Amino acid sequence: MKKTVLVSGGAGFIGSHVTVELCQAGYDVVIADNMSNCDETNYKGVCAILSRQLPFEKVDFCDAAAANALFDKYHIDAVIHFAAFKAVGESVAEPLMYYKNNLDSFLNVLEAARSHGTHVLFSSSATVYGEPDNPPVTEQSPRQEATSPYGNTKQMCEDFLRDCVKAYGMHGIALRYFNPIGAHPSALIGELPRGVPNNLVPYITQTAIGKRECLSIFGNDYPTPDGTCLRDFIDIVDLAQAHVCAVTRMIDGKMEEPYEIFNVGTGRPVSVMELVNAFEKVNKIKLNYRIAPRRPGDVMAIWADPALAEKKLGWKAKRSVEETLASAWAWEKRLAEAGK
Ligand code: UD1
Repeated sequence: MKKTVLVSGGAGFIGSHVTVELCQAGYDVVIADNMSNCDETNYKGVCAILSRQLPFEKVDFCDAAAANALFDKYHIDAVIHFAAFKAVGESVAEPLMYYKNNLDSFLNVLEAARSHGTHVLFSSSATVYGEPDNPPVTEQSPRQEATSPYGNTKQMCEDFLRDCVKAYGMHGIALRYFNPIGAHPSALIGELPRGVPNNLVPYITQTAIGKRECLSIFGNDYPTPDGTCLRDFIDIVDLAQAHVCAVTRMIDGKMEEPYEIFNVGTGRPVSVMELVNAFEKVNKIKLNYRIAPRRPGDVMAIWADPALAEKKLGWKAKRSVEETLASAWAWEKRLAEAGK
């Protein structure tokens, strides 16, 4: 019998790509989203890629009764929780908004999952490692004190999951994402930042298309090979496929511990400057950029040791940075054609 996965925040950037990969791997998916930070573009794109309408529920997971009702309505084998606010700077300005939304919603998911015997996959972040002493980081590398309420919610939600698994005999996986970039090769789904993008790749593509005048490269005086920060940029489809492996591991009863954590990255450090150069080269575009002061709160260098995910999940990032940057550009052009 087909298994069903509930994807909270399924109309967003990561949730929509995960939904496509799950469906293509043979899962039924229920998408739930309160649409607070996105429009219908990605939901429609997912349905177009899969050539069918997927069940969609407009639900705010901060509403415990509404969240629980979803688990009553569908027989859900696993839930993947993406529904959260994600802007680091905004979280510093509005900590209460972040704590209320990101913590309440996950607590409600955990409560419903507990009473319905559902496996839980939490979308965590490499932000939990802070500024690592000695990259690459493994899952055993220490977490550092969070530098933003956003980062703090990721750490707290990891702990909520760990403690619930221990107390209630549940099963859970936390995936720690590095820097997800790119878009689906169909260019039907992708990242849709509201307002001025905070993240590098949407800023690059919006500059290339003429929505932004000039990209600021935040700092070229770091003690790195070219002076700019080093990150582990991971293709969004590769990242989505890691979720399929993790969900399958849970549902098939293959977990070795009831709570497991995996890094989801490439293991390949790429500097901000290298990424900009690669974007120009692969898409044959001259980007307007300037060197700006460092951005407060940025870590200098972080990338994953992804060995554990390869060993235990049988997952490995496959796509090159060039391929991914071409997909990001195709998506931005598609948005422009659609007048977005
Ligand atoms: C941030 C968050 C991370 C979150 C991720 C995706 C922290 C410390 N980081 O990662 O948790 O999961 O966003 O939302 O909490 N840059 C520029 N110019 C720009 C934008 C970025 O030079 O206009 C540089 C930054 O200085 C950084 C790199 O590009 O060195 C990547 O930045 P960004 O895409 O914002 O991701 P992170 O800060 O790594």
